[in-house]
Amino acid sequence: MKVAVAEPLGLDHLTIVERPEPRPGAGEVLVRLRAASLNYRDLIAIDGGYGSQQKRGDLVPLSDGAGEIVEVGAAVTRWRVGDRVVGCFFARWDSGPPNEQRLAATLGGSIDGVACEYRVFGENAILPIPAHLDFVQAATLPCAALTAWVAVIEQNAIGPSASVLTQGTGGVALFAVQFATMAGAGVIATSSTADKLERLRGLGARHLINYRDDPNWGQTAYTLTGEGVDLVVDTGGAQTLSQSFRAVRVGGSVSVIGVVSGAKHALHVPILIAKYIRLQPVIVGNRDQFAAMLRAIERHELRPVIDRVFPLSDLRAALEYLKSGRHVGKVCIEI
Ligand SMILES: NC(=O)c1ccc[n+]([C@@H]2O[C@H](COP(=O)([O-])OP(=O)(O)OC[C@H]3O[C@@H](n4cnc5c(N)ncnc54)[C@H](OP(=O)(O)O)[C@@H]3O)[C@@H](O)[C@H]2O)c1
Repeated sequence: MKVAVAEPLGLDHLTIVERPEPRPGAGEVLVRLRAASLNYRDLIAIDGGYGSQQKRGDLVPLSDGAGEIVEVGAAVTRWRVGDRVVGCFFARWDSGPPNEQRLAATLGGSIDGVACEYRVFGENAILPIPAHLDFVQAATLPCAALTAWVAVIEQNAIGPSASVLTQGTGGVALFAVQFATMAGAGVIATSSTADKLERLRGLGARHLINYRDDPNWGQTAYTLTGEGVDLVVDTGGAQTLSQSFRAVRVGGSVSVIGVVSGAKHALHVPILIAKYIRLQPVIVGNRDQFAAMLRAIERHELRPVIDRVFPLSDLRAALEYLKSGRHVGKVCIEI
């Protein structure tokens, strides 16, 4: 079978090689992967940026894959050959809060990922694909969508009276716009260009701010709402957190998710205290949360925003395209 592998780590070393097809053991299934999607973290993982939480030597990248079961191992009762499934980001986090053991196995990070034709999954590490979605659409869900779902719905129970601020037009941000809109909340969305802001309007964002033209966008969002937003979904990190603290209302929440503008931020402690801000990190989510999100996606017939689909043979070009930041929504791979 064809497998994309970085050996040694580094985007420059990413190649497609032939490897033997794996076989499922007891409690496992073999999935013929049909599609994958890219996340910003794949760029970090391929370059070995996750330190001690990172597989060393070589890495099959990508966490998010969807396909169909082609073989079922012994003692597996809940799956059949032909079932359409999507993989979980964490191979061993079924439910409950995170702990070291539950977070230990991340696809395309600490263990090999889904950039390959066949992969064995534990029977608990997959879920059925919503009926209205194809493989490419389903492959957008394990990381970016679940992260947004946990921030907007699981941790903050956002509803019709709430206001939510999102940053940019990447995978997590667009799912956050979609879930907040689905819940009836008012969305203030930021982005770098007028074209991208128009796409956000099409997804239901009520207010749009170009953060390049308006570096004080946090204050602008605060003013737009009168008393600040209930939730900021912060995917920017270093250059966005200070403005996120300005945007949020007293007693509101900032979901700490990403680092697209840098990883280090000098925390201004007094504003956190004075505004009683709840800083809440998100680390994707567990299988139960994933299952709840898939049910909601099916019920609302929500469709992910897909920017471009590349063949597996062009994975490197796809990752470079993601790195360029030209995309709106998800960059996907057909396998
Ligand atoms: N904690 C978790 O569980 C978790 C899970 C998934 C992802 N993440 C992290 O979340 C971040 C986003 O991931 P992703 O996969 O959605 O990324 P992505 O698809 O690559 O999106 C990146 C987008 O961020 C926007 N951006 C760039 N610089 C910005 C800035 N200074 N301020 C505001 N927006 C900026 C750009 O959109 P515009 O041009 O429209 O501004 C860009 O297209 C990454 O840091 C990723 O590692 C964390």
